[in-house]
Amino acid sequence: MLQDFLDFARLNAISATVLELTGSTNDAASDPACRHGDIVVALEQSCGRGQRGNSWSSERGRNLTFSIVLEPENFAAERQFMLSKIVALSIVEVLAKFGVEARIKWPNDIYAGSRKIAGVLIENSVCGAQLTRSIVGIGLNVNQTAFDPALPNPTSVALETGREADLGHLLKELYITLMSMLRRGGGRSVDRLYLEKLYLRGVPHRFTASGRSFEGVIRGVGDYGELLVEQEGGATDSYLFKEIEFERGAP
Ligand code: BTN
Repeated sequence: MLQDFLDFARLNAISATVLELTGSTNDAASDPACRHGDIVVALEQSCGRGQRGNSWSSERGRNLTFSIVLEPENFAAERQFMLSKIVALSIVEVLAKFGVEARIKWPNDIYAGSRKIAGVLIENSVCGAQLTRSIVGIGLNVNQTAFDPALPNPTSVALETGREADLGHLLKELYITLMSMLRRGGGRSVDRLYLEKLYLRGVPHRFTASGRSFEGVIRGVGDYGELLVEQEGGATDSYLFKEIEFERGAP
């Protein structure tokens, strides 16, 4: 199932651990023995974690749930949103190769149309002004076609393309793309691409912030990852994660 990736990892001396069952790959990868570039993949997670305290559920062996350890050199902590951009863009780039046109729902959910196909949970360690270590956890729905009806809007590669994808091939492409984008480092081209791929940019939508529901238009993202939303009347406000929510449905 993951053979393509495991062959690639062996050939390139990448430490890859495949667990039949674990709580969360982010927790497994936070073992200090895991070093830069190491990857932990789970066939099943019993306590998969998402953002905002949500859980992440995934059918055993049908999807990708994994975490990669990064220990970047000289990466200023204040640039940590750049890492988020690189991770999201690498997923979008690989999905395109597999026939899925995806967008990034700020900050780093991955959407196909108006449905979520992947989620990212990045847990950073900072020392002084430097980002020292990141656990990049990615859950990508690949071959699952039936989901818990309680989930708001899930989709998968198989649902989007009408055919199953090889998990090992997909994981190999994700690993290569992410690590090479990281080596190139972030920069203006990453900023530009992130904006190009930003879900609902320029489209009126309803948001909730500080208990108030309003219509706004996403205009961009600030240097620290804050969402820039133009309000009715023309003023643009910036919001940190947790300060704003997208309302469901049409504006
Ligand atoms: C989200 O959309 O809220 C983020 C979901 C992240 C899920 C992945 S699955 C692999 C890794 N391990 C976890 O417990 N979470 C991430």
